[in-house]
Amino acid sequence: MLALGAPAGAPSADVHPPRRPGGLRPGRAERLRGASLSAEGRVSTPLPLPWTEVLVLSPLGWGEVVAEALALGPCTSVAFGPPSLGTEPAPEGWEYVRTYIPGSADTPALRARLEAELAALAGRTGERELAGIQVRFRALPPEDYASSWRKSWKPLRVGRLALVPPERASAPRPSDVRLALEPGGAFGTGRHPTTRACLRMLQDWPLSGARVLDAGCGSGILAVAAAVLGAREAVGFDIDPYAIPYAEALARDNAVAERCRFVAGGFEVLPALAPPFDALLANLYADLIEAHAGELSGALRQGGRFAVSGCVRDKRQRIEAALEGAGLRVELRRTRGRWDAFAGRRA
Ligand SMILES: C[S@@+](CC[C@H](N)C(=O)[O-])C[C@H]1O[C@@H](n2cnc3c(N)ncnc32)[C@H](O)[C@@H]1O
Repeated sequence: MLALGAPAGAPSADVHPPRRPGGLRPGRAERLRGASLSAEGRVSTPLPLPWTEVLVLSPLGWGEVVAEALALGPCTSVAFGPPSLGTEPAPEGWEYVRTYIPGSADTPALRARLEAELAALAGRTGERELAGIQVRFRALPPEDYASSWRKSWKPLRVGRLALVPPERASAPRPSDVRLALEPGGAFGTGRHPTTRACLRMLQDWPLSGARVLDAGCGSGILAVAAAVLGAREAVGFDIDPYAIPYAEALARDNAVAERCRFVAGGFEVLPALAPPFDALLANLYADLIEAHAGELSGALRQGGRFAVSGCVRDKRQRIEAALEGAGLRVELRRTRGRWDAFAGRRA
């Protein structure tokens, strides 16, 4: 099924490419071209391809900032957490952040750019501890990283939702709601704080019988979660046409395909999706939310719930003003790292 951002079997966990608003993320489309969906909707890829691991030792708590600095050129996948593939554990007070460069794109110039981005972080943030960041490049042995990643992937709980690999038939606890996710996936694994914020917020909504819109659906995780939680219909759209078959496969994996619909396109497709919706999710970039606040509001019925995420903190006032100005009353704010999410209702 899903392997957005790392279809060639590259090890991957969470991706957020905030500095590339709109359109295809560089590298993603090219890498997806090598992948195909099987009859069961799973991704099969030509394996193995050579990869270089960029291993960054970051002061604890700064992983997301480091991950953002690593979102350069072909580095579309970022992995957090305990190291795998033979790397040693991080020393106390430090954490690993890894990204991966396809062998063919691993050039001295790219390495220098990555090093420069990391070296600039302390100055940019004013946090002296970031001056201690270390980076190491390592050619990975040829291996089926999709399988390797599967071995170390751990279920994740977000509120009542338990994100588990598709082959795991039940959630860890009887009170969990199971959401099946392919471990090899990148964006849309639910591990990114902006996705988690939406997953968390939508659990407080009366979803039973609701029609839900997912703007910038990517892997479809938010729409599928809404359907799994009881929505009558979940409709997602994404400007990236390569995302759509993966979102559809995710819906199939969760047995909600008949209640999910995914459409390729930007905001121009909205009128054809039969608005208004009862609820709206938009994990997009701050500038897009600001620019399209009016269309988002127009797609929501009066009193309908919304959650928007993916907004960098320093744009908080602008985003809130845009939402409020469009009639989207902000009732809840969540900040995680440098990311803001807002939830509320249409006035
Ligand atoms: C931050 S990702 C969120 C993916 C997924 N909804 C999640 O929460 O994990 C943002 C998505 O918005 C899509 N996107 C960017 N600009 C867009 C636009 N103008 N219209 C629709 N989708 C867009 C990107 O292709 C990407 O898949």
